Amino acid sequence: MKQKIIETIVNIYRFTELEPEIQVLITKAKEQVKNSYAPYSKFHVGAAVLLENGALFLGSNQENAAFPAGICAERVALSYANTEYPDVPVKAIAIAAYVRHEFSAQPVSPCGICRQTLLEAERRFKFPINIYLFGTEYIYHISSAEELLPAAFNLC
Ligand code: THU
Repeated sequence: MKQKIIETIVNIYRFTELEPEIQVLITKAKEQVKNSYAPYSKFHVGAAVLLENGALFLGSNQENAAFPAGICAERVALSYANTEYPDVPVKAIAIAAYVRHEFSAQPVSPCGICRQTLLEAERRFKFPINIYLFGTEYIYHISSAEELLPAAFNLC
């Protein structure tokens, strides 16, 4: 038997250590939680997508009584961005979550479907997406969707 070890590099920052452009992106993601519709989970998520041309697109999770119909904040923002600018690469995304009247201390991590969606956006444009996960003390930065979703599904 052989083994393959897969590692993911996570860069950990304080908010003030980040570039101003990324600070704005995170702030926008945090602001978006107020537009979340999450009566079932009460887990309010905001996302902000920055395109290579500087355009910014925002999203929040939108739930539904028929649970699978709900959609995550990341996919709302990504779909919005790709609809408006189908030819412009995604440069970065920031994600924040608000639970029980406060922002989550733990950096919020995208679900599997969102990882796969981020990966598609990355591969489609052959342009790495910088992913910023907000936590009240630290921000996790992962430098590509490939890094966040190793051993990903591929349609051969
Ligand atoms: N959710 C997101 O919007 N993004 C994530 O990365 C994780 C989960 C949403 C889906 C659902 O509305 C709620 O958070 C609880 O799972």
